[in-house]
Amino acid sequence: MRKWLFARWYNKIMEKYEAYISQRKQALFTDLPTTVMEIGPGTGANLGYLSQGCKWIGIEPNPYMHPQLREKAASHGVEAEFRVATAEGIDVDDASVDAVLCTLVLCSVRDPQQVLNEALRVLKPGGKFYFIEHVAAPQGTWLRRWQRVMRPIWSGFADGCRPDRETGAAIQNAGFRSVELEGFRVPFPPALPFVSPHVAGVAVK
Ligand SMILES: C[S@@+](CC[C@H](N)C(=O)[O-])C[C@H]1O[C@@H](n2cnc3c(N)ncnc32)[C@H](O)[C@@H]1O
Repeated sequence: MRKWLFARWYNKIMEKYEAYISQRKQALFTDLPTTVMEIGPGTGANLGYLSQGCKWIGIEPNPYMHPQLREKAASHGVEAEFRVATAEGIDVDDASVDAVLCTLVLCSVRDPQQVLNEALRVLKPGGKFYFIEHVAAPQGTWLRRWQRVMRPIWSGFADGCRPDRETGAAIQNAGFRSVELEGFRVPFPPALPFVSPHVAGVAVK
């Protein structure tokens, strides 16, 4: 029921955020290759940034997201393949994709480290991991305390999302050859104040 509700309301909740972040996404995804795997694509917010004819594999465990995903992939001319699965164990061959996309997902997965290991496994050598994530505020700040207090409530509402995860550090320590990461803030109202700060960047295998 919770997953159904999340899928139903997700686009509405994210409308302002997507408008706000679109310039950053355009810059970040400018050199996306033609074989892409996406972790937790949700309703397909990133499909419009792929080139027509791109081969895309979506690893999305919430089946209620899939109808919107299929529709969007078709309307953007993306050659889509779907897995109703979690990204802790991806049914994709080793070293077979040029890029992995991951936006606003590592906050919600059960085991971020395992998901990053899987991303590294499926990437070809030199392949790129593109990410945008909201992360924990620095230790000792009021925002960090607030994130901790809000975690159980927000997690119940937002399908397991944890606002106080150290996702930037997890990406930097995952074993990529290089990581380019930029921190930024998304002002309220596009994001709730405790779903901040954000990091975006590219990590190379
Ligand atoms: C906040 S939404 C983000 C959706 C989309 N990436 C975006 O930027 O709008 C988080 C997504 O991650 C998916 N998800 C949650 N746990 C996952 C896991 N273990 N593996 C893969 N996807 C997962 C959820 O079903 C949901 O679609």
